[in-house]
Amino acid sequence: MKNILEAPFMIEMKRITENMYRLGWDERNAGNISYLLTEKEAEAYLDLNVCVRTFPLSIDAKALAGKTFIVTGTGKYFKNVQHEPEENLGIVRISDDGKSTRLLWGFSGGGSPTSEFSVHLMCHSARLKANPANRIIMHAHPTNLLAMTFVHSIDEKEFTRTLWQLCIEGIVVFPEGIAVLPWMLCGTNEIAEATAKKMDEHRLVMWAQHGVFGAGNTFDEAFGLIETAEKAAETHIKTMHVPRINIPTDAQIAALAEKWNVNYRKDWLS
Ligand code: 13P
Ligand code: ZN
Repeated sequence: MKNILEAPFMIEMKRITENMYRLGWDERNAGNISYLLTEKEAEAYLDLNVCVRTFPLSIDAKALAGKTFIVTGTGKYFKNVQHEPEENLGIVRISDDGKSTRLLWGFSGGGSPTSEFSVHLMCHSARLKANPANRIIMHAHPTNLLAMTFVHSIDEKEFTRTLWQLCIEGIVVFPEGIAVLPWMLCGTNEIAEATAKKMDEHRLVMWAQHGVFGAGNTFDEAFGLIETAEKAAETHIKTMHVPRINIPTDAQIAALAEKWNVNYRKDWLS
């Protein structure tokens, strides 16, 4: 069996959590990530019959039965993942009845998966239906996106249009727009269901006054989505106090989408 600490997905987990922490998106234990391992990856690095502990699930995860995820632990700090991966990360496998998960590796200090694991699992199910290659669900608290939800309309069409205006390639990176949920209590099945419903059509979902969820086939893709939206939000926050005298028109934004041949939400440009 190969050394799990050298697995590419482990190295990516360490790199991405370090990056997100340094960008200020994940203070203290803020944020969480889950990555769906292929069977090939799981078998190469793990004994799939191991059961360190089990965790009950509060949602029905039957659609993901037998799937294996590496996930950040609840209360764990992103800044520490690179130094102590076995303490801060866990690898869990969903039971056949979809009611619990079995710990195969990690959470060495007695930890458990993120309190948002229900959201992650429901979002994985939603994205896999839309795109069978999806592997990552990522949650972060990026400062400017978060700030925007305090001062900007949270109507998702208006929110998206502002982001498309302020980071000119935004429409190419997230042509389906960014979905927005009003403030809801986190860590609940209600927010998990609402987020997953948005993920049927979107890879980015804002939680107003809380943070953002991103999905992707790779760590880079999910990270790049959040990074691009956050750049747009930063430009918004930096220019919202002064008169904006040059704003790209909807026609110019649409031209970019046409040039890159992306299927954008035409009705979200006026
Ligand atoms: P966890 O520490 O449980 O992952 O929670 C962090 C968070 O961002 C909750 O939304
Ligand atoms: Zn959060």
